[in-house]
Amino acid sequence: SKVDEIRESLLEWYDKVHDVRGMPWRKRYDPSLEREGRAQRAYEVWISEIMLQQTQVTTVIPYYNRWMEKFPSIRELAASDIEAVNSLWKGLGYYSRAARLLSAAQKVVKELDGRLPDNAKDMQAKISGVGRYSAGAICSIAYNECVPVLDGNVHRLLSRFLALYAPPKGKQTQDVLWAGAEAFVRNSSRAGDINQALIELGSTVCKVRDPMCSDCALSSWCQAYKQAQRHFKERESDD
Ligand code: ADE
Repeated sequence: SKVDEIRESLLEWYDKVHDVRGMPWRKRYDPSLEREGRAQRAYEVWISEIMLQQTQVTTVIPYYNRWMEKFPSIRELAASDIEAVNSLWKGLGYYSRAARLLSAAQKVVKELDGRLPDNAKDMQAKISGVGRYSAGAICSIAYNECVPVLDGNVHRLLSRFLALYAPPKGKQTQDVLWAGAEAFVRNSSRAGDINQALIELGSTVCKVRDPMCSDCALSSWCQAYKQAQRHFKERESDD
């Protein structure tokens, strides 16, 4: 089907580029992990996603590595204090993110037996600082749960993909784009890879300015690209 073709093209591209920038949180989904191992993966992806919220990948990598050395699991984090957490966060900005990580870790150890929730719905409801985007990213990447992500980059990519030129913050726009993002991961066995592919394609290819359409794995199905091609052809035939 068309959806399968689109995903295949997207994942073929992602399989080529996923390791280029050496992101330490980007391990392959491991279906053999037991409950404890899965919760550990969720911890790692949670930290990376909160760090990546307002900060670029290349900046985050060394911070993430130092954090994991100091707090290899959520229990070490929970046993720490705000001074230690802030000192590891120094330079990343938006310190409330670090404070929320600490208090959420303490709650998880106290109330949830040291394991982050095992699905996006509970993740968003129970973990402060985790909204719909982060819950989708964490649970698709750590658990392969078929939940969508829509950050700024995916928002722009899907707006172009669907040629949806509507007020970006409007409720209807948001609804259509979340539904579009959901269609990409529905019943997929590689939801985490699809979401990371969309995030990465949005940030590195479908850029705000000068999108690199000729390098894009989705251009064959992109409505904005199709419209542009049609306009160029019409002008050619006018000459
Ligand atoms: N930005 C947010 N999440 C990301 C991820 N998993 N990979 C790359 N960039 C990201």
